[in-house]
Amino acid sequence: MKKLIDQISSVLAAGFQTAGYDPALGKAVVSNRPDLCQYQCNGAMAGAKQYHKAPFVIAEEVVKAIGDNPMFSKLEMVRPGYINLDLSPAFLASAMAELEADPMRGVERAEHPLSIVVDYGGPNVAKPLHVGHLRSAIIGESIKRTCRFLGHRVIGDAHLGDWGLQMGQIITELHERQPELPYFDPEFQGEYPAEAPFTISDLEEIYPASSKRCKEDEAYKKAAQTATYELQNGRRGYRALWKHIVDVSVADLKKNYSALNVDFDLWYGESNAQPDIPPMVEMMKEKGYAYLSDGALVVDVQEESDTREVPPCLILKSDGGAQYETTDLATIVQRQRDFQPDRMIYLADKRQELHYVRCFRCAYKTGLVDADKCSLEYVGFGTMNGKDGRPFKTREGGVLRLETLIRSVEDAVYEKVMSNGTISEEEGRDVAHKVGIAAIKYGDLSNQPAKDYIFDLDKFASFEGNTGPYIMYTMVRIKSILAKYRAAYPEAETGIILPPESRSETELALALCRFNEAVYEAYEQKAPNRLCRYVYDLTGALNQFYVEHNIMKEPDGVRQAGYIALITLVLHVLESAIDLLGFEAPERM
Ligand code: ARG
Repeated sequence: MKKLIDQISSVLAAGFQTAGYDPALGKAVVSNRPDLCQYQCNGAMAGAKQYHKAPFVIAEEVVKAIGDNPMFSKLEMVRPGYINLDLSPAFLASAMAELEADPMRGVERAEHPLSIVVDYGGPNVAKPLHVGHLRSAIIGESIKRTCRFLGHRVIGDAHLGDWGLQMGQIITELHERQPELPYFDPEFQGEYPAEAPFTISDLEEIYPASSKRCKEDEAYKKAAQTATYELQNGRRGYRALWKHIVDVSVADLKKNYSALNVDFDLWYGESNAQPDIPPMVEMMKEKGYAYLSDGALVVDVQEESDTREVPPCLILKSDGGAQYETTDLATIVQRQRDFQPDRMIYLADKRQELHYVRCFRCAYKTGLVDADKCSLEYVGFGTMNGKDGRPFKTREGGVLRLETLIRSVEDAVYEKVMSNGTISEEEGRDVAHKVGIAAIKYGDLSNQPAKDYIFDLDKFASFEGNTGPYIMYTMVRIKSILAKYRAAYPEAETGIILPPESRSETELALALCRFNEAVYEAYEQKAPNRLCRYVYDLTGALNQFYVEHNIMKEPDGVRQAGYIALITLVLHVLESAIDLLGFEAPERM
């Protein structure tokens, strides 16, 4: 379905043209006086100068030129020269019928599907997932789903941090604790065990222990650096150990992400990019982009229009070691080769912005990416803060584990769900999980990505206000009305949505027809908050409708069946919308 606003604009544009004016003046906007009309057009005001005519004269001529159009129930000139209009109930009814029949609910698939890589998540192997990675996962997943819904070919890549110093630290600590393991014996020629010599809980204890010792003990730190170096240069035993660390860690990450309804197509990591580094560096040197500065290999990326200093992109450190930038650049090489994407979208904390600016400039400058063929895009997100306005921490001041956060939200929801005493414990847990995830995700996504926000458990888990649980509650309420209706009228045939009569019915119809606009905007601006606002507006319109209409008590059977069809469509649209946000509603709560 074409966007409502575009459908109206094209009728207006034709009217302007017929009346002898520039059709570009025929642009509809949502009325800023909803008490007077639904949409308006200010084109006659804008055209007055150009045509040396009073705006109301132009507006009157245009209204006349459009004449009787079944799309509108009202189309009128209002002095000094506006065109005010309302859509007709019959038009809205047929638009809603179209939405109900369309599984995309009015959203049109992209005419030219693009190939898009979304790089999000970015968890670090062997370190537990913490709230710092939450926003990347939540926002990235929604952006990925929205791109995919529009018909683009999307690849979500976790881009694991699996190649840094933390790997050498863990190897060093394991060496201290279990020196007898074959991984440490340089003479060992046999097959290494298939089973990892540690569990995820071991790793979660080993990593912080080792990182603490690195800070205290210079020799230990050196050993960790050496181990990292040897690992990266192919020491066999270390590679085998590394593989265990990655496998154990990724299995655990998968569990955590799946609790969040987040899933990646690729679980590549920084390590996957390593083979592409040497030829890339060679190319940069050969073509004269990279030069030595204080022993390090760099590429200048400062541009004349910069108002701040953008330091050169660091390609290799003076010891020849690769950097965060180097790995991201080599990953671009790999993605270009494997997928030839039209777009690469990166999600990361906004404090990393300069890193991406430098990488992207370097990639364009050195020809890794042709700017006409592929755009590199960065979505920087703000920090999730605690109630004290500072980055979220545990009560003891440590990094809060994602699992702990999820559990605390679920527990809060569980209590509320169980308090009305109609649900079994088992169902209660399932409901609390779904509603808890909705609370966390909606609480996050309803903010603009770039903004910091305060994670307020009481607010996020509240069943009232602009929250995930409130949206869930609204959906569950629709399901319960539908069930009641079916129980009361088992023989009833499926009704059709009737032309709206009341004001609240009309507002609800308009809100339903605007789903596609919200999806396009969320896509174009990479802004899931736009979808959240839509969901909130739609649920608000529905609740207003309930205030005015008691569906179960409606005496006219046809009208009642029409209401049932109407709220069924609301449910369907909400289901599509929250799927794009990355959560789902329970049956009851
Ligand atoms: N592992 C990184 C971190 O924890 C995030 C990776 C983001 N993605 C990327 N392509 N650099 O900060």
